[in-house]
Amino acid sequence: MARHTFALAVALWFAVLGALAFAIRPPIPASVLTIYMALVTLGIGVYVAANEERWRAFLAPICAVLDGRAPRPIRWAVLFASPMLVGWGAWWWTAPSWDAPYEPRVVHPEPPASFVSHGRRVEIAGLVNPLRTADTATLAQRVAEGREIYYRNCFYCHGDALAGDGHFAGAFSPLPANFRDVGTIAMLQESYVYWRIATGGPGLPKGGAPWQSAMPVWQSMLSEDEIWKVVLYIYEGSNSTPRTWDDGAGHAKH
Ligand code: HEC
Repeated sequence: MARHTFALAVALWFAVLGALAFAIRPPIPASVLTIYMALVTLGIGVYVAANEERWRAFLAPICAVLDGRAPRPIRWAVLFASPMLVGWGAWWWTAPSWDAPYEPRVVHPEPPASFVSHGRRVEIAGLVNPLRTADTATLAQRVAEGREIYYRNCFYCHGDALAGDGHFAGAFSPLPANFRDVGTIAMLQESYVYWRIATGGPGLPKGGAPWQSAMPVWQSMLSEDEIWKVVLYIYEGSNSTPRTWDDGAGHAKH
């Protein structure tokens, strides 16, 4: 019996693993299985190590292989299996998975209090579009410039009708925002939209992760005025109006 301590311990370990992984229905989650197996490993280890003689019997086959006393085929098998196991482990650990991330994506995470745009720190509170004016002729001119910026830079992803279905759109997850949807820019303030355009996917706070947004960081390609103009255009072009700072605070005032 003592001679086979190692084999018995290993067999027991695999028997428990097999039972937990295949005999239990519905299957237990991998994370729970890992916890159980860690405890089983610990339990077997403690049992084997608790007795001096048993411990020596357990180590004997390992020492025999390492010392070169074990039969040659076994030593060759160990020599091949060890790097294969490490390689398989590394592959398993790093291979990409197509599963959706565990957490749902927060589409509109809380914006930071301030952010850096064009090398300047900008406070979000009270930030308004400096180019939005009551003068309709000037506004129309700026919207027209914004349209040009949109069709030079944005429509590949956000679509020629601003519906988030540009010809690159299908390649991205999450999909580019559909500006015609009431759940996007129509429910946002221009300051938020400016922040999103200036800082792009990389500027999203933790809530936006682990999803990887393809939205570029436009402050490195467009000037502040250009971003404000394209903001004017995407509202105009999608027939929506931005939320204003009064929407939330209005009740308190009246
Ligand atoms: C490479 C593709 C791509 C291009 C080009 C692109 N976007 Fe995006 N954009 C995205 C994706 C993907 C999202 C959705 C994920 C996110 O919110 O970051 C997004 C989101 C946005 C949002 C956030 C909307 C919301 O409801 O939160 C705005 C605003 C926006 N884009 C504006 C623009 C503007 C303006 C341009 C051009 C200057 C532009 N995008 C160009 C991919 C792109």
